[in-house]
Amino acid sequence: MDSATPLDIATLFDTHESERFDLHTRRLNEQMVRVLRTIGYDVGFCKGQGQYLYDRKGDRYLDLLSGYGVFAIGRNHPAVRAALKSVLDADLPNLVQMDVSTLAGLLAQRLLALVPHLEKVFFANSGAESVEAAIKFARSATGRAGIVYCSHAFHGLTYGALSLNGDEVFRTGFEPLLPDCVRIPFNDLAALEQALSARRMAAFVVEPIQGKGVILPNEEYLKGAEHLCRRYGTLFIADEIQTGLGRTGKFLAGEHWGIEPDMVLLAKALSGGHVPVGAVLMRKAIFDKVFNRMDRAVVHGSTFAKNDLAMAAGMATLEVMQVERVIENAARMGERLLRDLSALCGNYELLKEVRGKGLMIGVEFGSPSSLKLKASWNVLETASKGLFCQLITIPLFKDHKILTQVAGHASHTVKLIPPLILNDADCGWIVRAFDAVIADSHRASAVWSLGKTLVEHAMRANP
Ligand SMILES: Cc1ncc(COP(=O)(O)O)c(C=O)c1O
Repeated sequence: MDSATPLDIATLFDTHESERFDLHTRRLNEQMVRVLRTIGYDVGFCKGQGQYLYDRKGDRYLDLLSGYGVFAIGRNHPAVRAALKSVLDADLPNLVQMDVSTLAGLLAQRLLALVPHLEKVFFANSGAESVEAAIKFARSATGRAGIVYCSHAFHGLTYGALSLNGDEVFRTGFEPLLPDCVRIPFNDLAALEQALSARRMAAFVVEPIQGKGVILPNEEYLKGAEHLCRRYGTLFIADEIQTGLGRTGKFLAGEHWGIEPDMVLLAKALSGGHVPVGAVLMRKAIFDKVFNRMDRAVVHGSTFAKNDLAMAAGMATLEVMQVERVIENAARMGERLLRDLSALCGNYELLKEVRGKGLMIGVEFGSPSSLKLKASWNVLETASKGLFCQLITIPLFKDHKILTQVAGHASHTVKLIPPLILNDADCGWIVRAFDAVIADSHRASAVWSLGKTLVEHAMRANP
């Protein structure tokens, strides 16, 4: 039999990278290409290393988006790469299915050592898949149907996860969603108690810090929620898919408030930025109710879950975090950024608040007080709520080579979720860039005319 010549992926990339927009316009999501062209993000990234991206001209960018939070230890970390190569070189018996995975056993041990109040792990392939598993397990374990979730929550976009999404823009057009899902305001214990008191709720699913908007819990909220869940026989589920693995300066964000959820959901950073993976950590009693008989040994699962590459990426990530003291760095750099960015607040009437924990930071803007700025602000707000933030993120990108995102639809908050390996020089870069861009937004008519152009583009449908 002929053997295939190995694909030279690097050369394929180099030869075709300039066609990426055309390929996507013809074969994938054309709207995404339109968005990128409109905001001027067509720089052609060609390399990623650590916290930096490099475009086709070789210019260096600081990545404060980190692939929606997957690059906690930075891009292409050599230790993760070496672990993945060692899996490929070892001819391991991957995904036998009628066996159990050694590497999954080891990763489960290591995760649970970091979350000692939980005893079992269920592996999945993504964040949303972890949420799906949590919903099914909660229903199965409690015999109840209801799931409580919060306004502005984001737990993923598959049907179960979407049913817990607190933002209409994601739900519209996809209904009907899962029945018996009850939305309550975040940070509202009275609403939670009202939802739980009929004892029909299987679970309360909550992000310790909401990703959309970077909304922090009140000091007593999460502990109070845990307490109410116990009182009414509801499982308390922390979605730490974004906040977990050191993002907030502790392994789990819940540690800041001393909670011990019945289930903890992880994904994103556990991948090492290379191999998709999700993990549901839980109490043994929950696991045992789902997998309760031999004929139900495969009652929930997914073909690729526990694959060797994902398990190796997870173990290598945890190792890097420990050896390189990545979480301590996130706490330190986060404190510095929060302090230095907050210090800008007094200087600018459009800048309202800087908040966050560790390296999950929200920079919130709001209506100005001076008449001149107010008029421009109102034009933008009327055309498209939240558009102002683009007047910050676009110049950050174009003029200061910093990649950020707006913290959700119609949001006035710019969100920073950089790799946790950020250094002092990066922090200086960020603060100087924000200072300059915010200053410009207070005076330059060019910035506001960019807003007008964006409004016109946003209003146009398909070309
Ligand atoms: C808190 C939270 N939960 C769940 C998800 C869904 O994860 P995935 O995109 O891997 O499905 C996300 C993704 O952004 C998230 O931030």
